[in-house]
Amino acid sequence: MKKDLSNIKKAKYLLDYNHCVAIPTETVYGLAANAYSNKATSKIFKLKKRPKSNPLIVHYFRIRDLKEDCELNNNFHKLYNKFCPGPITFVLKLKKKSKISKNVTNGKNTLAVRFPKNSVTRSLLSFLKYPLAAPSANIYTQLSPISKKDVREEFGKKIKFILDGGVSKVGLESTIIDLVNKPQVLRLGGIDIRKISKVLKRKLNYTKNKSIKVPGQSKFHYSPGIPIRLNVKKRHSDEAFVLIHKRKEFDKNYFYLSKNKNLKEAGKNLYKTLRKIKRLKFKKIAVEKIPNIGLGRTINDRLKRASKR
Ligand code: TXA
Ligand code: MG
Repeated sequence: MKKDLSNIKKAKYLLDYNHCVAIPTETVYGLAANAYSNKATSKIFKLKKRPKSNPLIVHYFRIRDLKEDCELNNNFHKLYNKFCPGPITFVLKLKKKSKISKNVTNGKNTLAVRFPKNSVTRSLLSFLKYPLAAPSANIYTQLSPISKKDVREEFGKKIKFILDGGVSKVGLESTIIDLVNKPQVLRLGGIDIRKISKVLKRKLNYTKNKSIKVPGQSKFHYSPGIPIRLNVKKRHSDEAFVLIHKRKEFDKNYFYLSKNKNLKEAGKNLYKTLRKIKRLKFKKIAVEKIPNIGLGRTINDRLKRASKR
């Protein structure tokens, strides 16, 4: 995707004046605002219809800027060097002198941060004097958007500007890892946690915590608003059937995430496919069994939540 400087400048102008702008990232599109401004960040919650208790991820261009707001530690540096910019979010201790708006953290003393990879957004961040708070650019509990068109579908004319950066390459939200104490995975995402384990030289488990630390862990999230049946071998006649390997027969109700069990490709196609099925007004979705390894775990996690009603 070619960088269009005039659009980046327009986004900067609006953000400088405390407006929200949708921005492309390699995971999903975000609904961004100046993370240092109470006025700007309060607009995010209003637009998304998101409870104030659910804190936001803040997006940075470089470590030098992050040092103003958070305490960095060894584990952070190891993971940063390996994966950033990329689909990983770190929960770190917030510095007392940080200018981050209370809306972002919900008054907590930790901050979720990440360094997005999309070149359009990196260019935008490089021009700004503040980092960007940005949750996924969807209405609360709905499907995350992976293109400009998806964001428009979510918000219509309610947002002033969507910065186009092409289709999100990963298509799944970032992996969230809490580094405040012992490293702990809070959300499965675009980076396989086995790769993170390897860098930290310690085994990381992901278990859904009983205390909901990340509201993305609440059931009923990422919902296309249609009941989903998982691990299905044969679809019912009224179901859209989501598949990850090629079947011999043609069926207009078949929707392929991948044709050869490629989990990276399947991850990239997940939200796009669910959105398409929704647009076609299917009332039910069936999903073939997806291997529960690597990104397959993330895909299954999202599907399970979407299937809870
Ligand atoms: O890939 C992504 O992470 C995308 C793009 C736009 O960057 N963003 C995203 O944001 O998925 P959101 O708001 O949809 O999900 C962020 C999750 C929420 O579940 C929130 O509760 C959690 O991060 N979170 C934010 N701050 C936190 C903190 N200090 N401690 C623990 N969890 C936190
Ligand atoms: Mg979200």
